Formats: sequence, C-alpha cells, structure tokens
Amino acid sequence: MHLLDWHDVAESDWTSLIEQSLLNGADRRRLENTHLGKSVGLVFFNDSLRTRVSMELAAASLGATSVTVTPGSGTWGFAWEKGVPMLGAEAEHIQEAVGVLSRYVDLLGVRLFASGTDLVKDMQDNMLKQFAAASAVPVLNLESASRHPCQALADAAVLTRHFSGQPKGKKFVLSWAYHPKPLPMAVPHSTLLMAARLGMNVTVARPDGFELDPEVMKQARQSAAASGGSVEEMNRQDSAMEGAHIVYAKAWGGKARYEDPAIEVRDRQAHSDWRVTRHLMALTNGGGQGKFMHCLPVRRGVVVDDDVLDGAHTLHLEQAEYRLHAQKAILSWLWERNKKSSDSGGTVSASSNPAANHP
Ligand code: CP
Repeated sequence: MHLLDWHDVAESDWTSLIEQSLLNGADRRRLENTHLGKSVGLVFFNDSLRTRVSMELAAASLGATSVTVTPGSGTWGFAWEKGVPMLGAEAEHIQEAVGVLSRYVDLLGVRLFASGTDLVKDMQDNMLKQFAAASAVPVLNLESASRHPCQALADAAVLTRHFSGQPKGKKFVLSWAYHPKPLPMAVPHSTLLMAARLGMNVTVARPDGFELDPEVMKQARQSAAASGGSVEEMNRQDSAMEGAHIVYAKAWGGKARYEDPAIEVRDRQAHSDWRVTRHLMALTNGGGQGKFMHCLPVRRGVVVDDDVLDGAHTLHLEQAEYRLHAQKAILSWLWERNKKSSDSGGTVSASSNPAANHP
C-alpha cells in the first residue's frame, strides 16, 4: 500500500488521521519509539526545508532510522526512460535505484516535482507512479507533480483545530498569487481537495488562464457535494475575499507554460498585483478576522505582504508545525496497514490506482 494521494483513502481513515495528527500535536511524545527498528528512505529530487526536516524527525520520534538521498548529489544520476540505451550522463536507472533502496528500508518517501514540459504526464503523476511501481515497500508522496498529501493532512488538522472541530460551512478562499516562476500545481490541487472534503465553501480565485486541472476541479465538486460543502471559481481576488474565514494563498503556473512558455510569462506578469495585502485581508469575515494560510516557502512582498505574515491573523507557522504531527500519524498508519495486509497475505491499497515546484 502506497500513499500517493488521498483520493482512494476511506473517509474513516482520513478523519482518523486528522484526529491522530491533532493528538500528536497535543502530546509530542505520543507514539514515541512505537516503531523501533524500522527504517525510512527519503529521496529528494527537489529542494525542501519543512518536508525533509519534519520527515527525518517524525521517523526518529517513532524510533525509526531515516536516510536522506538527493539523487545526482553524492549518488549516481538516475535515468527514467525505458527501452532506451543509457548513453547519457545518468549511470543508474530508477528501476534499479528504487529496487535497491526498497531492499534496505521499510518505507520510501519521495519528492518529485512536475517536469513542466508534459502536461498529461504531470497531471497524472506518471513519474511518481513509475517510482512506486519499482518499489517493494510502501511509498509516501512528499510532493509530486500534482499532489502534496502530507501538506493536505497537516492543513486539515490545522483547520479542524482552528474551527474547534467544525470547519464545515466556513468560507475558504484558495487565492492564486503572482510569482516570478511558473510553480507547479501540487499544493493548490491538494489544498482544494482537502478543503472540499472538509465540507468548506471553497472559492478558487485565479486570473483567466490559470485554472486548475479540470479533473481536480471535478473531483473537488464531487467531494464537496458529498461533504456538504461547495466549490466555485472567480477571476477577481478582492471579490473572493469578502467574508472569507480563511485565505490560502498559493502561486502556480498557467497551462500555457506547456505549450508556449513566453505567453505564460506574459500572462503571469500581467497579474503581478495578485498579492495578499492588509487591505484585502480587511475584507475577510468579521471585518478582517479571517486567517491567512500558506504552505511555505513564501516570497514576502510578492505573494503576501510582510504586515500580513507578521500580524495576528495567520496560521502559516502552525501549518509547518503540523507537518511533523501529521507525518508521524501517516508513517504509523502506513506501517500498521501494511503489517495487517502482509499478516493476512493480501494487499491493501490506499491508492489502488496510485496517484494519479514550489519555492
Ligand atoms: N511546504 C513544504 O512542502 O515545504 P518544503 O518545500 O520546504 O518541504
């Protein structure tokens, strides 16, 4: 059983993992050394602060050993193409690299961002699926081209805590923000799906040309219909903010980056005023009582103004903290589920259809 996306995970497991994350947050020594002797391999194809540090500490807290690998930096470079003679710079194929690592460890975490060159492959998370298919142990998605499940669970726990267990019915604005680079869609996709699943009334505010993946929008609407929430889209940031309980800012690139990057750059720059300011936050619920969220890292003065981040109405550091609590819950759950699966001689799949750059 892998965890590549929350989509195929049962509602009972999802809500239980939110609860476990909250319990871990309330008692940091909870679950201490419950998985002594286990080992985790963390493969980071891309940079990270929060995910890397919180995964290493989550494993240590459970009594497990972690090993972090940054491919091509102190390891061989990995080739991905199948059936192509490896005459380039890469000395090792991902098939052997993952095959070997999964004989050393009990779980593999992988961060593998979007290619930015193949829209279909990126939206379907094909490279992540290839990685998982080569592994003999559970694989945990540490942010792929299209999903960031660890961030989504941490954020769900933070929202549940902030609204005293009742996020349902609250207005959640997922706001596009300008960024000098065309960042991937993993965080906005997972954030939208998470808020819809919690039954929140979600508004996706983004300029025209910066729509999220239509399949993700459809999945979010279905999820909202089941949870009692709603999903709508707007192309104005100020109207979207009115009455919001939560403003979750995130930059992402337009689809045009895959067809004509120059057009995407032109369109993105045309919206460089999409930044969360104190004035916009004043439009939120209760005359400015709405809270600001961001997964981090965030560019001050570009995505959001300093006075919003430094003010009293923000949850961004709590979100980062809950990455640790959520990942302890996920590691423990994956190991327990896989133990049951191997004890019964069967296979359990949290992602029976495994899942499908943000700085
Ligand atoms: N939010 C998040 O995943 O942060 P890092 O990229 O630093 O891991």
